[in-house]
Amino acid sequence: MASTDPTADLANQLEPDDEQSSEQDSAYGDDDLISERTSLFSDIMKYREEVHDTFVSAFSPDTDTWLLGQNGRRYHGYKDGAYLLALQHHHIFNLANGGKLYLAPIERPARVLDVGTGTGIWAMDFGDAHEESHVIGIDLSPIQPAWWGSPIVSDEQFRLLLILSRVAPNVEFLVDDAEDLWLGNTYDYIHIRMLSGAIKDWPGLLAKAFDHMNPGGWIELTEFEVWLHSHNNSLHRAPDIQTWQEGLREAAALIGRRFDVAVNLENWVRQANFTNVTQHKIIVPAAPWPKNKELKTLGAYQLLNMLDAASSYGQAHFTRVLGWSADEYAVLSAKVRSQLKDRTLQLYSDLYTVYARKPMTAP
Ligand SMILES: C[S@@+](CC[C@H](N)C(=O)[O-])C[C@H]1O[C@@H](n2cnc3c(N)ncnc32)[C@H](O)[C@@H]1O
Repeated sequence: MASTDPTADLANQLEPDDEQSSEQDSAYGDDDLISERTSLFSDIMKYREEVHDTFVSAFSPDTDTWLLGQNGRRYHGYKDGAYLLALQHHHIFNLANGGKLYLAPIERPARVLDVGTGTGIWAMDFGDAHEESHVIGIDLSPIQPAWWGSPIVSDEQFRLLLILSRVAPNVEFLVDDAEDLWLGNTYDYIHIRMLSGAIKDWPGLLAKAFDHMNPGGWIELTEFEVWLHSHNNSLHRAPDIQTWQEGLREAAALIGRRFDVAVNLENWVRQANFTNVTQHKIIVPAAPWPKNKELKTLGAYQLLNMLDAASSYGQAHFTRVLGWSADEYAVLSAKVRSQLKDRTLQLYSDLYTVYARKPMTAP
């Protein structure tokens, strides 16, 4: 197995920025967050314009709509919208992987599958970058742009989601359960990102991917370890974050899901008979505490994600699965949010990417 760490240099620069005091952070209110989000979103758009050469950014406060792109795409700018969150996540992966959409050494894959495609942003970017590929994104939910205007999408979803006037002809979205039978098609590259907590049977999913992979094809999986660490070993000063993390794990286990996915990917891929297995592990700060500029930027995006997760994502697990009241969760969530903003805790999580190949000789 080759195991590499492309950001080893960055990891060595995990020196905290002494100028950031925790007092500043505790005064960081929701208005600051909204303004920080707006400024980060603007940075994402600039980045996409430079890197993808696709967009012309502009924001219309009247319609709360972001930019018209060269390719005719329009993005809705709802501050707390699902699309914005997906864009934030996608941007974190872009930054962490040096702007690359994938790490596997693929060249011109004819048929590409994105499992659990979400808003479809990765599939669309990949389709733009690989006009030779036919990209299929599958998801349980019809939240991809192709469904825009479909009667399945409610008004509320409609307001929150990406509005796209054109999906490239080489990109297709299907509503499908990846844990059901996979029928027919085979692929040259299968991409799976951020499905921790969603999939019940990971070895079963990987066996399906192997069976539906053309010989010589590549699989790539990217997951965060859903657990925060402290670079200066001060997690004991964040007891509510620990309660929150342990509660999330417990709730996931009770509903037959698991969060310890990232650390197991490499073994599962190997057990599914893939070869040339390579694992990359990258440190992503959970707040803008490092001095290093790139890590600080990553941390700023990740803090917004974590704050959202503390408010909304965790609530369903604690109230519906663990039986907490909404008020009890609101108290925990407020404490977690406050601890997340404390840069002296030097919080981070590990981002794993594993890619592997189906042998040329496999049936
Ligand atoms: C956190 S999102 C990740 C989206 C996307 N992969 C990305 O990285 O931007 C997880 C997505 O997986 C989808 N999902 C969960 N279980 C699934 C399943 N069994 N089959 C297909 N999609 C699934 C969810 O509907 C959701 O859109």
